[in-house]
Amino acid sequence: MMTSQKKGSSVRPRLRWEKLLATLALALLLPAPAAAQKKPAALDREGHPWWRHAVFYEIYPRSFADSNNDGIGDLKGITSHLNYLKSLGVDAIWITPCFPSPQVDFGYDVSNYTDIEPMYGTLADFDGMVARGRKDHIRVVLDFVMNHTSDRHPWFLQSKSSRSSEYRDWYIWRDGKPPDVSQPPMPPLDPNAPGGEQPPNNWTSIFGGTAWKYDPTTQQWYYHFFDPAQPDLNWRNPKVHDAMFRAARFWFERGVAGFRLDAVDTLFEDPDLRDNPPLPNVILRDAAGNPLPNAVPGKDAYGMPLQRRIYNDNLPENHVVLQQLRQLADQYGAVLIGETWTENIAQLREYYGESKAEIQLPMDFLFANVNRLSAPEFRRQVALVESAGGWPVYLFSNHDITRAYNRYGGPHPTDQVAKLLAGLLLTLRGTPILYYGEELGMENRDPVSREEVQDPIGVRGWPLEKGRDGERTPMQWTSGPNAGFTSGKPWLPIAANYQTHNVESESRDPNSVLNFYRAAIRLRHRNMALVEGNYVALNERDPNVMAYLRQYRGHALLVALNMSPQAQTVSLDLSGQGYGVKARLHALLTSNAARDQKPASMKLEPYGVFIGELKK
Ligand code: NOJ
Repeated sequence: MMTSQKKGSSVRPRLRWEKLLATLALALLLPAPAAAQKKPAALDREGHPWWRHAVFYEIYPRSFADSNNDGIGDLKGITSHLNYLKSLGVDAIWITPCFPSPQVDFGYDVSNYTDIEPMYGTLADFDGMVARGRKDHIRVVLDFVMNHTSDRHPWFLQSKSSRSSEYRDWYIWRDGKPPDVSQPPMPPLDPNAPGGEQPPNNWTSIFGGTAWKYDPTTQQWYYHFFDPAQPDLNWRNPKVHDAMFRAARFWFERGVAGFRLDAVDTLFEDPDLRDNPPLPNVILRDAAGNPLPNAVPGKDAYGMPLQRRIYNDNLPENHVVLQQLRQLADQYGAVLIGETWTENIAQLREYYGESKAEIQLPMDFLFANVNRLSAPEFRRQVALVESAGGWPVYLFSNHDITRAYNRYGGPHPTDQVAKLLAGLLLTLRGTPILYYGEELGMENRDPVSREEVQDPIGVRGWPLEKGRDGERTPMQWTSGPNAGFTSGKPWLPIAANYQTHNVESESRDPNSVLNFYRAAIRLRHRNMALVEGNYVALNERDPNVMAYLRQYRGHALLVALNMSPQAQTVSLDLSGQGYGVKARLHALLTSNAARDQKPASMKLEPYGVFIGELKK
């Protein structure tokens, strides 16, 4: 029978010994919070930090698994599938922001840094997930949105309330400029700005339009590198610094193993707000490097002038904050993964930290930017990353980048290409990050009309910029309704290939992409040469086949990847590495029918992968 009595109040113990007994009973019944459980070791038996050997897996929580069938994924959904991730061989998950948020940018607009978004669950669900992860040896990494908050964060609401608010200086507020009659006005003018008043400078937002929004109450403009609903924090204010570091500590204390750091390039801006130089001759291009149809030279997808962001991107002050954050992370054996959009290896090197340690794993997007299967280009990029002096981190896709299956597979992607990508990602010297569904060969599903678009940048930039919905579709668990993601209405449509590419069907098929990923991860975990071994490029002039050795304490693994649609025969000369003509290969993993191979004449099928141990 239902009563109005609050659940649990009838068991409140009255005597002290009863209270003690109740506490003991509860302690036995409830799982200990993750932070109170034994912490996983920060170093392995050989003294290597855990993140060097870990396989990371990015989860977009809205799209992974929906436990309450509201059409949106949640933390309980993730927890209930940790066993799947364990069977895949994942060591750490990175969850994109799951904090309270109005969801304008699907969580990257945070309104409270120390709680869980109710749509995703509660702090108790979070603790449950971390505790369960510890049992399965899966660490949890969160996404720390440092550059900006939501415009509905209490800090911003205060800041916006008056020019004299104690939070005013937590964000970047400036007076506008009087209209310059000699210049065309900067489109789109903020309709709220009086008398054609112009923004404080020419900076544009990468989400479209000017990077400034006029606030009629206090009659000033605030700066937003991203959406107007994402005002930039003022990192020159020590109070901002302290508040954000307190938030980071909150999660470390709760057992998180690290952070992926969002938009770290843009924490600081030029204090004088100088105008960025325009790029009048540059034209927007697609992933393959072709100019976008209808693109206008010198204009971005939203019609704004393209510019070189020298005054609001990649300022040296960023590094000071990151070095301090690293010191905090080190107290917890935690890892920092950087969303570092570098233009070259010199910039990447800076993020590792030159005089002081900085980010352990700054992502190299130039690797993902190769964007086509090209042995010379991947070879070149890997050599550059190897030369940066830090521990490399590689990824092909994420929630902002078209899925690898389509980018590298072209209009008719095949599983052979997906296996080739696994062969590369999981055998390089460096930490791999998989994007959920990549292990299945999940494909992109771009919206077909503007009305369908959810992502704010797709709404604003359509049709030149279709937004990122395509790479964020629900995880494909089964071939049943909604791919087994939800029995409600999924927040985004399911990608077309779910009936063939899903966990259930692929688990049964020994030749599936999923089973190839599983085997490649298992191989990586069992072979020290694949994690700590040297990387030695072979046949460096070959236009089609990328081949390399991974050598560790007298063992050598050879990896050969045919990046072309034709069968290839290659002859690898390993005399420089101490292997004569009689050297043999013991196949460990291959997508090729032919397992019996010799380095002197290797036969690779179109897009074939061969990984084998070298024997003298
Ligand atoms: C980078 C994130 O990956 C992206 O999804 C987000 O929109 C921006 N930062 C703003 O936080």
